[in-house]
Amino acid sequence: MIDPRTQLVADGYDAIADYFLEWSRRVEGDERARWRQELVRRLPAGAHILELGCGAGVADTGALAKRFSVTGVDISPEQVSRARVNVPGADFMCGDFTRLELPAQSFDAVVAFYSFNHVPRDRLAGLLVRIHAWLVPDGLFLCAFGTGDTESWTGEWLGTSMFFSSFPPETNRRLLHETGFTLELDELMTMVEPEPDGESRWQWVLARR
Ligand SMILES: C[S@@+](CC[C@H](N)C(=O)[O-])C[C@H]1O[C@@H](n2cnc3c(N)ncnc32)[C@H](O)[C@@H]1O
Repeated sequence: MIDPRTQLVADGYDAIADYFLEWSRRVEGDERARWRQELVRRLPAGAHILELGCGAGVADTGALAKRFSVTGVDISPEQVSRARVNVPGADFMCGDFTRLELPAQSFDAVVAFYSFNHVPRDRLAGLLVRIHAWLVPDGLFLCAFGTGDTESWTGEWLGTSMFFSSFPPETNRRLLHETGFTLELDELMTMVEPEPDGESRWQWVLARR
């Protein structure tokens, strides 16, 4: 059974599937391409990558799938159906990535672009343990973490109902260290979203198992 907070996220992204893409194109100062490059230059050819919260696959899944074997996971059926059309060369699963069961040491990298601020705080530590287990030794984890001190926020966002949750950067850092990750890069970035709040602050981390 899906956690009701995550069900809200799924229903929300279903409802705004097309609008979210249009909104994303108007975000200013998004440095995801630079972070993707930081990952790519550390990966061997043919690496296996797991993407958590891939959305419609437009920005990152497609770019990564040109060079690597990519599996995308998203809880929103509408997002996954778009991703399958947009990136025919990748594999996709529709489900809650915090409950995913995958073989140990089956990925060279796990990536998450702007999806962890929807993970309830009480599920983050367990998720990091799973990611660590899915990675091969020396495998890489690239993630844009939310930075707000927000246990739980539910409300209207982009015209739909949405759930957000995040820890401040020092807590994300501590949880990563406690899981056994070594942080190679750890930077705070601000970008400007067209609505509703304008500036949003993210913690980009590239960590190694
Ligand atoms: C802000 S969107 C980002 C989409 C894409 N990564 C991008 O950067 O454009 C967050 C995505 O994460 C997905 N998501 C959030 N929580 C999830 C969970 N627990 N399991 C699977 N997908 C989840 C949402 O459905 C949504 O598509």
